[in-house]
Amino acid sequence: MADNRVVVYAGPGQVAIENTEFPKLEIPREVSQGLGIKQAAPHAVILKLVTTNICGSDQHMVRGRTTAPVGQSLGHEITGEIVEIGEDVLFHQVGDICSVPFNIACGRCRMCNEGKTGICLNVNPARAGAAYGYVDMGGWVGGQAEYVMIPFADFNLLKFPDRDAALEKILDLTMLSDIFPTGYHGAVTAGVTTGSTVYVAGAGPVGLAAAYSAQLLGASRVIVGDMNADRLAQAASFGCDIADLSTGDSLTDIVADLLGEPEVDAAVDAVGFEARGHGAGAGEAPATVLNDVMGIARAGASLGIPGLYVTGDPGAVDEAAKIGQIGVRLGLGWAKSHTLVTGQCPVKKYNRQLMNLILADKAHIAKAVNATAISLDDAPLGYAQFDQGAAQKFVIDPHGMVRA
Ligand SMILES: NC(=O)c1ccc[n+]([C@@H]2O[C@H](COP(=O)([O-])OP(=O)(O)OC[C@H]3O[C@@H](n4cnc5c(N)ncnc54)[C@H](O)[C@@H]3O)[C@@H](O)[C@H]2O)c1
Ligand SMILES: [Zn+2]
Ligand SMILES: [Zn+2]
Repeated sequence: MADNRVVVYAGPGQVAIENTEFPKLEIPREVSQGLGIKQAAPHAVILKLVTTNICGSDQHMVRGRTTAPVGQSLGHEITGEIVEIGEDVLFHQVGDICSVPFNIACGRCRMCNEGKTGICLNVNPARAGAAYGYVDMGGWVGGQAEYVMIPFADFNLLKFPDRDAALEKILDLTMLSDIFPTGYHGAVTAGVTTGSTVYVAGAGPVGLAAAYSAQLLGASRVIVGDMNADRLAQAASFGCDIADLSTGDSLTDIVADLLGEPEVDAAVDAVGFEARGHGAGAGEAPATVLNDVMGIARAGASLGIPGLYVTGDPGAVDEAAKIGQIGVRLGLGWAKSHTLVTGQCPVKKYNRQLMNLILADKAHIAKAVNATAISLDDAPLGYAQFDQGAAQKFVIDPHGMVRA
């Protein structure tokens, strides 16, 4: 028996499960040396994973579309039970079940003090912001594992108030580590409010979470666009209108048919740089969705852009896109006075309130994204099916606590 097992990137299109050492209460050497912070981490805890989800953000690495090296550990969507605790952790105890924001944040820097936990200054020597199991994000070990170390635990952990209630709703609560707050952030930063009409690009888990969040925020109509029929059906299952972009019909015409006018109040990009052009069999065209949301949103709108854009893409369609330079028609957004909100979602800004909604039985995010629990050994299968566009959000359950 190994001390721990973790999912790793094993080359384009492949993941594997590797034996590894049990985590220590230590931050990565890369962070410690790069930023001159001591490696010992008495502010950390070790979690036994209860759930850890597969994300579209992982797929960018697994498809070979980032600079992630083979062996990169994976997993930033973490929910777990505390099994070991550092001596400086004051407000958590062994046995607590907690959600972990995918952003790693120190809780002490200028950005953390402003609530901008996606761009913490003390967790990644290469740039602002870090995450577990992600390329260029500080070298923190991923949580698609049996056990994982969480630093600055008092700041980062969101404790579920009641263990039994938490385990009962765990497939909903597991979405608090990323996609529920991220989708909600997409809708909030797009300015969605009571009565808004909304376009969400992408019917993957983040797009579905954004659409569901727009409904929570009181949107009158939510239109979800994608080319994947199963995922569009998933969006329709909880009351969204759909824009089937596989037909080649123009988005403007689809929206005009649905709403009686060719514009929406608010738009969200839940696709990112691997966007494809419209029409059956269209190839990759990375600026498609940014241009779509600028085209379809009314003048003066805000655009929520949780969809991820990279600074380095070895598999890009052309030389410019290899450094993240894509054909965005910024003049269009400028002429319409659009506000663009990009970057990692600061999960801590939303996770407690969304937890409260789940526990009060007023948000059913697991159903909206079709959460599906699998074992750690089935992670490679989950990755393959998700890559093929399954209308499911795969939740790895390393200790069988969910399936039990
Ligand atoms: N900002 C953040 O904090 C944050 C957090 C989580 C995920 N993300 C990013 O959000 C994006 C979505 O994540 P996901 O897990 O849902 O990914 P996903 O890959 O499962 O979903 C993307 C969907 O977009 C569709 N699509 C492709 N081109 C399109 C187009 N032109 N118009 C409409 N739909 C199109 C695809 O068919 C697919 O269903 C990814 O880029 C991911 O990295 C960002
Ligand atoms: Zn994620
Ligand atoms: Zn910080």
